[in-house]
Amino acid sequence: MPFNDEICTFAIKICREAGLLLLSGFRSGTTEISYKSRTDLVTNMDYESEKLICTRIKEQYPDHDIIAEEGGRADNNSDYLWYVDPLDATNNYAHGIPFFCISIGIYSRSSKSVVAGAVYDPCHDEMFSAVKNCGAYLNGGLIKVSPVQDLGVALLSTGFPYAKDDIEKNNLNEFNRFLPQIQCIRRMGSAALDLCYLAAGRIDGYWEPMLKPWDSAAGSLIVSEAGGKVTKYNGETYDPEYPEVLASNGFLHSRMVSILTADYNNRS
Ligand code: IPD
Ligand code: CA
Ligand code: CA
Repeated sequence: MPFNDEICTFAIKICREAGLLLLSGFRSGTTEISYKSRTDLVTNMDYESEKLICTRIKEQYPDHDIIAEEGGRADNNSDYLWYVDPLDATNNYAHGIPFFCISIGIYSRSSKSVVAGAVYDPCHDEMFSAVKNCGAYLNGGLIKVSPVQDLGVALLSTGFPYAKDDIEKNNLNEFNRFLPQIQCIRRMGSAALDLCYLAAGRIDGYWEPMLKPWDSAAGSLIVSEAGGKVTKYNGETYDPEYPEVLASNGFLHSRMVSILTADYNNRS
């Protein structure tokens, strides 16, 4: 089996294991919530899930690197870097809303790209996955982005960063520019699933300003492998470390770039 397929299969396996763990705590009344800041919460299950995933990766690939959201690290100067979000949409999880996932994207430093990724929504038992140049899958079936070409009938999704009181960063300017020009917007609460829903043709476009690599790495590959496009706001090549992410079915991309960059062009 080619190595990228092997690591994808392994990512799928540990996503499922972490999914079962998260379900065991979901709506259980035992979830402990703490606050990184007033608007950024974390639960004991974020840490439990991360511990499980990082342990498994280190057992299987002891020479690979890891960057996980809650601080899990492995630093071996490896070609392969595992970006791990052990619970994406913690806010939904903590509020008993059944829409969250585990997201694992594997980046190859030598090829400067994400080469494999898995995103698992345990409440709906939906496993999204992709290997570079091999297509995108949902529960084993190929998925494709939507064919929508008219922004006026497009359903978009976005997210609001934790810096909600900073008007320059809180995404309301961009939200206001998009809203009158589209069919509608969703704020589902999971960046990784936003990207996967785009890949599956359920929404037509997505943007978000302050993402971390563990939010977007896996989803970005799943979108491109489903025939979509993922870039920075200005249309430049996607970089997992860069916070602004724009993704679309491809047809809507240049219109979305224009809307997102209008603000920068108007600034003195
Ligand atoms: C968050 C979710 C949310 C997005 C935030 C992310 P977390 O991740 O993906 O949809 O708007 O930017 O930080 O903190 O729940 O893992
Ligand atoms: Ca996240
Ligand atoms: Ca998280």
